[in-house]
Amino acid sequence: TLKVVVIGGGSSYTPELIEGFIQRYEQLPVSEIVLVDIEAGAKKVAIVEALSQRMIEKSGYPIRVSSSFNRRQALEGANFITTQIRVGGLKARELDERIPLKHGLIGQETNGAGGVFKALRTIPVLLAIARDIHDICPQAWMINFTNPAGIVTEALLHHSPHKKVIGVCNIPFNMKAGIAEMFSCPVENVEIEFIGMNHFVFGKRVFIHGEDRTKEALTKLTEENLDYSPANIVSLGWSKEFVTALQLLPNPYHLYYFQTEEVLKKDLDAFRKNGTRAELVKQVEESLFQTYQNPALSEKPKELTQRGGAYYSEAACSLMESLYTNKQDIQTVNTFNNGSIQDFPDDAVVEINAVITKDGPRPLAAGKLPQQVKGLIGHMKVFEQLVIQAALSGNYYKAYNALLMNPLVADEKKAKVILDEMLKAHKDYLPQF
Ligand code: G6P
Ligand code: MN
Repeated sequence: TLKVVVIGGGSSYTPELIEGFIQRYEQLPVSEIVLVDIEAGAKKVAIVEALSQRMIEKSGYPIRVSSSFNRRQALEGANFITTQIRVGGLKARELDERIPLKHGLIGQETNGAGGVFKALRTIPVLLAIARDIHDICPQAWMINFTNPAGIVTEALLHHSPHKKVIGVCNIPFNMKAGIAEMFSCPVENVEIEFIGMNHFVFGKRVFIHGEDRTKEALTKLTEENLDYSPANIVSLGWSKEFVTALQLLPNPYHLYYFQTEEVLKKDLDAFRKNGTRAELVKQVEESLFQTYQNPALSEKPKELTQRGGAYYSEAACSLMESLYTNKQDIQTVNTFNNGSIQDFPDDAVVEINAVITKDGPRPLAAGKLPQQVKGLIGHMKVFEQLVIQAALSGNYYKAYNALLMNPLVADEKKAKVILDEMLKAHKDYLPQF
Protein backbone atom coordinates (compact mmCIF):
# COMPACT_ATOMS: atom_id res chain seq x y z
CA THR A 1 0.00 0.00 0.00
CA LEU A 2 0.99 3.57 -0.58
CA LYS A 3 -0.96 6.03 1.48
CA VAL A 4 -1.06 9.79 1.07
CA VAL A 5 -2.69 12.07 3.60
CA VAL A 6 -3.61 15.53 2.40
CA ILE A 7 -3.93 17.97 5.30
CA GLY A 8 -6.21 20.73 4.11
CA GLY A 9 -7.85 18.28 1.73
CA GLY A 10 -10.87 20.55 1.20
CA SER A 11 -8.68 23.09 -0.60
CA SER A 12 -9.79 24.02 -4.10
CA TYR A 13 -6.26 23.05 -5.18
CA THR A 14 -6.73 19.36 -4.32
CA PRO A 15 -7.86 18.32 -7.84
CA GLU A 16 -4.36 19.39 -8.95
CA LEU A 17 -2.87 16.78 -6.69
CA ILE A 18 -5.36 14.10 -7.68
CA GLU A 19 -4.56 14.73 -11.33
CA GLY A 20 -0.86 14.48 -10.52
CA PHE A 21 -1.34 11.10 -8.82
CA ILE A 22 -3.40 9.78 -11.72
CA GLN A 23 -0.82 10.91 -14.28
CA ARG A 24 1.99 9.23 -12.34
CA TYR A 25 0.17 6.14 -11.20
CA GLU A 26 2.55 3.74 -12.98
CA GLN A 27 5.55 5.23 -11.16
CA LEU A 28 3.83 6.19 -7.92
CA PRO A 29 1.03 3.68 -7.34
CA VAL A 30 -0.90 5.47 -4.63
CA SER A 31 -3.48 3.11 -3.18
CA GLU A 32 -5.11 5.36 -0.62
CA ILE A 33 -5.69 9.09 -0.29
CA VAL A 34 -7.22 10.60 2.83
CA LEU A 35 -8.36 14.20 2.67
CA VAL A 36 -8.10 15.64 6.16
CA ASP A 37 -9.80 18.87 7.06
CA ILE A 38 -11.37 20.66 9.99
CA GLU A 39 -15.11 20.49 10.55
CA ALA A 40 -15.59 24.07 9.47
CA GLY A 41 -14.45 22.89 6.04
CA ALA A 42 -16.88 19.95 5.92
CA LYS A 43 -18.82 21.20 2.92
CA LYS A 44 -15.73 21.92 0.86
CA VAL A 45 -14.03 18.63 1.61
CA ALA A 46 -17.18 16.68 0.71
CA ILE A 47 -17.30 18.38 -2.68
CA VAL A 48 -13.59 17.83 -3.32
CA GLU A 49 -13.85 14.20 -2.22
CA ALA A 50 -16.71 13.54 -4.63
CA LEU A 51 -14.86 15.17 -7.53
CA SER A 52 -11.72 13.20 -6.65
CA GLN A 53 -13.76 9.97 -6.71
CA ARG A 54 -15.03 10.78 -10.18
CA MET A 55 -11.55 11.66 -11.44
CA ILE A 56 -10.16 8.41 -10.12
CA GLU A 57 -13.06 6.34 -11.37
CA LYS A 58 -12.49 7.75 -14.83
CA SER A 59 -8.80 6.88 -14.64
CA GLY A 60 -9.59 3.27 -13.81
CA TYR A 61 -6.82 3.09 -11.20
CA PRO A 62 -7.53 1.35 -7.90
CA ILE A 63 -7.05 4.36 -5.63
CA ARG A 64 -9.26 4.72 -2.58
CA VAL A 65 -10.25 8.23 -1.52
CA SER A 66 -11.88 9.18 1.72
CA SER A 67 -12.09 12.20 3.99
CA SER A 68 -11.59 12.61 7.70
CA PHE A 69 -11.77 15.19 10.46
CA ASN A 70 -9.59 13.03 12.66
CA ARG A 71 -6.02 13.87 11.75
CA ARG A 72 -4.29 11.45 14.09
CA GLN A 73 -6.40 8.55 12.91
CA ALA A 74 -5.88 9.46 9.27
CA LEU A 75 -2.10 9.54 9.73
CA GLU A 76 -1.90 5.87 10.64
CA GLY A 77 0.15 4.03 8.06
CA ALA A 78 0.77 7.12 5.94
CA ASN A 79 3.77 7.27 3.58
CA PHE A 80 3.39 10.86 2.48
CA ILE A 81 1.65 13.79 4.09
CA THR A 82 1.07 16.98 2.18
CA THR A 83 0.14 20.12 4.07
CA GLN A 84 -1.83 22.86 2.36
CA ILE A 85 -3.68 24.77 5.01
CA ARG A 86 -4.62 28.38 5.60
CA VAL A 87 -4.95 29.15 9.30
CA GLY A 88 -7.89 31.54 9.66
CA GLY A 89 -8.96 31.00 6.05
CA LEU A 90 -9.34 33.65 3.40
CA LYS A 91 -10.71 36.03 6.02
CA ALA A 92 -7.32 36.12 7.71
CA ARG A 93 -5.65 36.52 4.33
CA GLU A 94 -7.82 39.52 3.62
CA LEU A 95 -6.61 41.15 6.83
CA ASP A 96 -2.99 40.37 5.94
CA GLU A 97 -3.54 42.20 2.69
CA ARG A 98 -5.77 45.04 3.85
CA ILE A 99 -4.11 46.28 7.00
CA PRO A 100 -0.67 47.01 5.55
CA LEU A 101 -2.29 48.53 2.45
CA LYS A 102 -4.29 50.87 4.66
CA HIS A 103 -0.97 52.16 6.04
CA GLY A 104 0.55 52.62 2.62
CA LEU A 105 2.54 49.38 2.58
CA ILE A 106 2.45 46.32 0.33
CA GLY A 107 -0.33 44.01 1.48
CA GLN A 108 0.62 40.51 0.45
CA GLU A 109 0.12 37.16 2.10
CA THR A 110 3.70 35.88 1.97
CA ASN A 111 5.71 39.11 1.86
CA GLY A 112 5.88 42.12 4.13
CA ALA A 113 3.69 42.42 7.21
CA GLY A 114 1.10 40.01 5.80
CA GLY A 115 3.74 37.32 5.40
CA VAL A 116 4.95 37.88 8.95
CA PHE A 117 1.46 37.40 10.36
CA LYS A 118 0.72 34.42 8.17
CA ALA A 119 3.87 32.83 9.59
CA LEU A 120 2.92 33.71 13.18
CA ARG A 121 -0.45 32.00 12.76
CA THR A 122 0.81 29.05 10.81
CA ILE A 123 4.04 27.89 12.46
CA PRO A 124 2.48 26.59 15.70
CA VAL A 125 -0.19 24.69 13.79
CA LEU A 126 2.30 23.07 11.42
CA LEU A 127 4.52 22.16 14.35
CA ALA A 128 1.60 20.36 15.96
CA ILE A 129 0.96 18.47 12.73
CA ALA A 130 4.64 17.52 12.48
CA ARG A 131 4.57 16.24 16.06
CA ASP A 132 1.57 14.04 15.23
CA ILE A 133 3.36 12.72 12.17
CA HIS A 134 6.41 11.92 14.22
CA ASP A 135 4.26 10.09 16.75
CA ILE A 136 2.11 8.13 14.38
CA CYS A 137 4.01 7.60 11.12
CA PRO A 138 7.66 8.57 11.77
CA GLN A 139 8.80 7.05 8.46
CA ALA A 140 6.57 9.32 6.40
CA TRP A 141 7.65 12.33 4.37
CA MET A 142 5.94 15.60 5.11
CA ILE A 143 5.69 17.72 1.99
CA ASN A 144 4.80 21.26 2.92
CA PHE A 145 3.24 23.80 0.57
CA THR A 146 1.71 25.83 3.35
CA ASN A 147 2.87 29.42 3.08
CA PRO A 148 5.11 31.11 3.82
CA ALA A 149 6.57 27.78 2.73
CA GLY A 150 10.26 28.60 3.25
CA ILE A 151 9.81 30.02 6.74
CA VAL A 152 7.46 27.22 7.75
CA THR A 153 9.91 24.60 6.49
CA GLU A 154 12.80 26.18 8.38
CA ALA A 155 10.66 26.29 11.55
CA LEU A 156 9.78 22.61 11.15
CA LEU A 157 13.29 21.41 10.34
CA HIS A 158 14.68 23.27 13.35
CA HIS A 159 11.96 22.80 15.91
CA SER A 160 9.93 19.69 15.17
CA PRO A 161 11.07 16.20 16.13
CA HIS A 162 10.17 15.13 12.60
CA LYS A 163 12.99 15.80 10.16
CA LYS A 164 11.59 14.25 7.01
CA VAL A 165 10.18 17.56 5.88
CA ILE A 166 10.54 19.17 2.47
CA GLY A 167 9.06 22.48 1.35
CA VAL A 168 7.84 23.10 -2.19
CA CYS A 169 6.51 25.95 -4.28
CA ASN A 170 5.40 26.28 -7.88
CA ILE A 171 7.54 29.35 -8.61
CA PRO A 172 10.74 27.50 -9.64
CA PHE A 173 8.66 25.31 -11.94
CA ASN A 174 6.89 28.36 -13.40
CA MET A 175 10.24 30.02 -14.04
CA LYS A 176 11.51 26.95 -15.83
CA ALA A 177 8.33 26.79 -17.89
CA GLY A 178 8.80 30.47 -18.79
CA ILE A 179 12.37 29.86 -19.91
CA ALA A 180 11.26 26.81 -21.90
CA GLU A 181 8.84 29.04 -23.76
CA MET A 182 11.59 31.57 -24.33
CA PHE A 183 13.87 28.97 -25.91
CA SER A 184 11.02 27.03 -27.54
CA CYS A 185 12.02 23.79 -25.91
CA PRO A 186 10.34 21.32 -23.57
CA VAL A 187 10.56 22.25 -19.90
CA GLU A 188 12.42 18.97 -19.22
CA ASN A 189 15.39 20.42 -21.08
CA VAL A 190 15.62 23.51 -18.91
CA GLU A 191 17.73 23.64 -15.80
CA ILE A 192 17.97 26.75 -13.65
CA GLU A 193 20.49 26.93 -10.84
CA PHE A 194 18.50 28.49 -8.01
CA ILE A 195 19.88 30.34 -5.02
CA GLY A 196 18.06 31.98 -2.15
CA MET A 197 14.88 31.34 -0.27
CA ASN A 198 11.27 30.65 -1.11
CA HIS A 199 9.61 33.63 -2.80
CA PHE A 200 13.04 35.26 -2.64
CA VAL A 201 14.88 32.94 -4.97
CA PHE A 202 17.07 33.98 -7.88
CA GLY A 203 18.11 32.02 -10.94
CA LYS A 204 21.90 32.11 -11.10
CA ARG A 205 22.47 30.16 -14.26
CA VAL A 206 20.25 28.85 -17.02
CA PHE A 207 21.04 25.66 -18.91
CA ILE A 208 19.25 24.46 -22.00
CA HIS A 209 20.08 20.85 -22.87
CA GLY A 210 22.95 21.15 -20.42
CA GLU A 211 24.41 24.16 -22.21
CA ASP A 212 24.90 27.42 -20.28
CA ARG A 213 22.59 29.98 -21.92
CA THR A 214 22.37 32.43 -18.99
CA LYS A 215 23.44 35.52 -20.96
CA GLU A 216 20.84 34.92 -23.64
CA ALA A 217 18.14 34.22 -21.10
CA LEU A 218 18.86 37.50 -19.34
CA THR A 219 18.77 39.46 -22.59
CA LYS A 220 15.57 37.79 -23.69
CA LEU A 221 14.03 38.45 -20.30
CA THR A 222 14.00 42.20 -20.90
CA GLU A 223 13.63 42.21 -24.66
CA GLU A 224 10.74 39.80 -24.86
CA ASN A 225 9.21 40.99 -21.63
CA LEU A 226 8.73 37.39 -20.67
CA ASP A 227 6.00 36.85 -18.16
CA TYR A 228 6.42 34.05 -15.68
CA SER A 229 4.29 35.68 -13.00
CA PRO A 230 1.61 33.53 -11.39
CA ALA A 231 -2.00 34.77 -11.45
CA ASN A 232 -1.68 36.48 -8.07
CA ILE A 233 1.11 38.92 -8.97
CA VAL A 234 0.92 41.90 -11.29
CA SER A 235 3.12 41.50 -14.27
CA LEU A 236 5.38 44.51 -14.77
CA GLY A 237 8.45 43.07 -16.39
CA TRP A 238 12.06 44.01 -15.64
CA SER A 239 14.23 46.77 -16.98
CA LYS A 240 17.35 46.18 -19.02
CA GLU A 241 19.45 47.97 -16.40
CA PHE A 242 18.15 45.84 -13.56
CA VAL A 243 18.78 42.54 -15.30
CA THR A 244 22.10 43.58 -16.82
CA ALA A 245 23.46 44.81 -13.52
CA LEU A 246 22.12 41.95 -11.44
CA GLN A 247 23.02 39.17 -13.87
CA LEU A 248 20.39 37.04 -12.19
CA LEU A 249 16.88 35.91 -13.01
CA PRO A 250 14.52 37.49 -10.49
CA ASN A 251 11.41 35.64 -9.38
CA PRO A 252 8.02 37.35 -9.68
CA TYR A 253 7.89 38.07 -5.93
CA HIS A 254 10.96 40.28 -6.31
CA LEU A 255 8.66 42.87 -7.84
CA TYR A 256 7.52 43.67 -4.32
CA TYR A 257 11.08 44.55 -3.31
CA PHE A 258 12.46 46.16 -6.44
CA GLN A 259 9.36 47.86 -7.86
CA THR A 260 7.65 48.57 -4.58
CA GLU A 261 6.04 51.87 -5.49
CA GLU A 262 4.82 50.69 -8.84
CA VAL A 263 3.34 47.50 -7.39
CA LEU A 264 1.73 49.40 -4.53
CA LYS A 265 0.09 51.72 -7.03
CA LYS A 266 -1.25 48.82 -9.09
CA ASP A 267 -2.38 46.95 -5.99
CA LEU A 268 -4.21 50.02 -4.71
CA ASP A 269 -5.96 50.44 -8.06
CA ALA A 270 -6.98 46.79 -8.06
CA PHE A 271 -8.04 47.10 -4.44
CA ARG A 272 -10.37 50.00 -5.21
CA LYS A 273 -11.95 48.03 -8.04
CA ASN A 274 -12.13 44.49 -6.67
CA GLY A 275 -10.85 44.53 -3.11
CA THR A 276 -7.77 42.54 -2.22
CA ARG A 277 -6.55 39.33 -3.82
CA ALA A 278 -8.27 37.40 -1.02
CA GLU A 279 -11.63 38.79 -2.09
CA LEU A 280 -10.97 37.92 -5.70
CA VAL A 281 -9.88 34.44 -4.70
CA LYS A 282 -13.10 34.07 -2.70
CA GLN A 283 -15.06 34.65 -5.89
CA VAL A 284 -12.86 32.32 -7.92
CA GLU A 285 -13.27 29.68 -5.19
CA GLU A 286 -17.03 30.02 -5.14
CA SER A 287 -17.27 29.47 -8.84
CA LEU A 288 -14.70 26.65 -8.68
CA PHE A 289 -16.73 24.84 -6.03
CA GLN A 290 -19.84 25.38 -8.13
CA THR A 291 -18.04 23.75 -11.05
CA TYR A 292 -16.70 20.93 -8.87
CA GLN A 293 -20.24 19.96 -7.95
CA ASN A 294 -21.20 19.22 -11.53
CA PRO A 295 -21.63 15.43 -11.53
CA ALA A 296 -20.52 15.32 -15.16
CA LEU A 297 -17.13 16.79 -14.28
CA SER A 298 -14.42 14.19 -13.82
CA GLU A 299 -11.23 16.14 -14.44
CA LYS A 300 -9.40 19.16 -13.12
CA PRO A 301 -11.25 22.18 -14.54
CA LYS A 302 -9.15 24.68 -16.43
CA GLU A 303 -10.49 27.54 -14.27
CA LEU A 304 -8.00 26.39 -11.68
CA THR A 305 -5.33 28.20 -13.66
CA GLN A 306 -6.81 31.44 -12.28
CA ARG A 307 -5.19 30.53 -8.99
CA GLY A 308 -1.58 31.52 -8.39
CA GLY A 309 -0.69 28.04 -7.23
CA ALA A 310 -1.76 26.38 -10.47
CA TYR A 311 0.63 23.53 -11.39
CA TYR A 312 1.93 23.15 -7.87
CA SER A 313 1.05 19.46 -8.13
CA GLU A 314 3.81 19.22 -10.70
CA ALA A 315 6.32 20.05 -7.99
CA ALA A 316 4.60 18.06 -5.25
CA CYS A 317 3.93 14.86 -7.18
CA SER A 318 7.32 14.75 -8.92
CA LEU A 319 8.91 15.07 -5.51
CA MET A 320 6.90 12.20 -4.04
CA GLU A 321 7.62 10.08 -7.09
CA SER A 322 11.37 10.60 -6.80
CA LEU A 323 11.42 9.94 -3.05
CA TYR A 324 9.42 6.77 -3.59
CA THR A 325 11.41 5.45 -6.55
CA ASN A 326 14.81 6.79 -5.52
CA LYS A 327 14.89 8.48 -8.91
CA GLN A 328 17.84 10.76 -8.17
CA ASP A 329 16.67 13.47 -10.53
CA ILE A 330 17.18 17.16 -9.82
CA GLN A 331 14.36 19.17 -8.27
CA THR A 332 14.08 22.54 -6.59
CA VAL A 333 13.11 22.22 -2.96
CA ASN A 334 13.23 23.95 0.40
CA THR A 335 15.65 21.98 2.51
CA PHE A 336 18.76 22.28 4.67
CA ASN A 337 21.51 24.07 2.79
CA ASN A 338 24.08 21.36 3.55
CA GLY A 339 26.89 23.09 1.71
CA SER A 340 24.93 24.17 -1.36
CA ILE A 341 25.28 27.94 -0.89
CA GLN A 342 28.75 28.58 0.48
CA ASP A 343 27.77 31.67 2.43
CA PHE A 344 25.10 29.91 4.47
CA PRO A 345 25.47 27.44 7.32
CA ASP A 346 24.48 23.84 6.66
CA ASP A 347 21.29 24.12 8.69
CA ALA A 348 19.82 27.19 7.01
CA VAL A 349 16.76 26.25 4.98
CA VAL A 350 17.11 27.47 1.42
CA GLU A 351 15.40 26.98 -1.94
CA ILE A 352 17.89 25.15 -4.09
CA ASN A 353 18.35 22.31 -6.52
CA ALA A 354 18.88 18.90 -5.04
CA VAL A 355 19.17 15.31 -6.17
CA ILE A 356 16.07 13.57 -4.85
CA THR A 357 16.89 10.18 -3.37
CA LYS A 358 14.85 7.83 -1.22
CA ASP A 359 16.65 9.30 1.79
CA GLY A 360 15.69 12.82 0.85
CA PRO A 361 17.17 15.76 -1.05
CA ARG A 362 20.92 15.91 -1.57
CA PRO A 363 21.64 19.58 -2.38
CA LEU A 364 23.80 20.43 -5.36
CA ALA A 365 26.59 22.93 -5.00
CA ALA A 366 25.37 26.41 -5.95
CA GLY A 367 28.58 28.22 -5.02
CA LYS A 368 28.82 31.65 -3.53
CA LEU A 369 26.04 34.18 -3.38
CA PRO A 370 26.75 36.81 -6.01
CA GLN A 371 28.03 39.89 -4.22
CA GLN A 372 25.21 42.12 -5.49
CA VAL A 373 22.56 40.12 -3.63
CA LYS A 374 24.63 38.65 -0.84
CA GLY A 375 23.65 41.26 1.70
CA LEU A 376 19.98 41.19 0.85
CA ILE A 377 19.63 37.43 0.84
CA GLY A 378 21.54 37.19 4.11
CA HIS A 379 19.29 39.87 5.56
CA MET A 380 16.14 38.05 4.45
CA LYS A 381 17.37 34.86 6.09
CA VAL A 382 17.87 36.70 9.38
CA PHE A 383 14.42 38.25 8.97
CA GLU A 384 12.93 34.77 8.52
CA GLN A 385 14.63 33.59 11.70
CA LEU A 386 13.27 36.58 13.62
CA VAL A 387 9.78 35.65 12.46
CA ILE A 388 10.25 32.08 13.69
CA GLN A 389 11.48 33.27 17.09
CA ALA A 390 8.45 35.53 17.37
CA ALA A 391 6.06 32.74 16.37
CA LEU A 392 7.53 30.34 18.94
CA SER A 393 7.81 32.78 21.84
CA GLY A 394 4.76 34.96 21.37
CA ASN A 395 7.03 37.81 22.42
CA TYR A 396 5.84 41.25 21.37
CA TYR A 397 9.31 42.70 20.84
CA LYS A 398 10.46 39.75 18.79
CA ALA A 399 7.45 40.24 16.53
CA TYR A 400 8.26 43.94 16.36
CA ASN A 401 11.84 43.12 15.43
CA ALA A 402 10.73 40.85 12.63
CA LEU A 403 8.37 43.47 11.23
CA LEU A 404 10.90 46.25 11.53
CA MET A 405 13.57 44.24 9.73
CA ASN A 406 11.30 43.38 6.84
CA PRO A 407 12.33 45.58 3.89
CA LEU A 408 8.68 46.19 3.03
CA VAL A 409 7.98 47.64 6.47
CA ALA A 410 11.29 49.06 7.77
CA ASP A 411 9.68 51.98 9.57
CA GLU A 412 9.82 52.36 13.32
CA LYS A 413 6.38 53.88 13.79
CA LYS A 414 4.52 51.97 11.10
CA ALA A 415 5.93 48.73 12.50
CA LYS A 416 4.27 49.42 15.83
CA VAL A 417 0.96 50.60 14.40
CA ILE A 418 0.70 47.60 12.10
CA LEU A 419 1.87 45.17 14.76
CA ASP A 420 -0.76 46.34 17.24
CA GLU A 421 -3.52 46.40 14.69
CA MET A 422 -2.68 43.00 13.26
CA LEU A 423 -2.17 41.33 16.64
CA LYS A 424 -5.65 42.48 17.53
CA ALA A 425 -7.25 41.57 14.22
CA HIS A 426 -5.74 38.07 14.23
CA LYS A 427 -5.95 37.40 17.95
CA ASP A 428 -8.16 34.29 17.61
CA TYR A 429 -5.39 32.60 15.66
CA LEU A 430 -2.47 33.83 17.74
CA PRO A 431 -2.90 32.07 21.09
CA GLN A 432 0.83 32.40 21.77
CA PHE A 433 0.58 36.20 22.04
C1 G6P B 1 1.91 31.46 -6.09
C2 G6P B 1 2.74 31.01 -4.94
C3 G6P B 1 1.96 30.22 -3.95
C4 G6P B 1 0.73 30.98 -3.55
C5 G6P B 1 -0.11 31.34 -4.75
C6 G6P B 1 -1.26 32.26 -4.38
O1 G6P B 1 1.73 30.47 -7.00
O2 G6P B 1 3.88 30.29 -5.31
O3 G6P B 1 2.78 29.95 -2.86
O4 G6P B 1 -0.05 30.21 -2.67
O5 G6P B 1 0.65 31.99 -5.70
O6 G6P B 1 -2.26 32.14 -5.32
P1 G6P B 1 -3.74 32.68 -5.09
O7 G6P B 1 -4.53 32.27 -6.26
O8 G6P B 1 -4.22 32.08 -3.80
O9 G6P B 1 -3.62 34.17 -4.97
MN1 MN C 1 4.87 29.61 -3.42
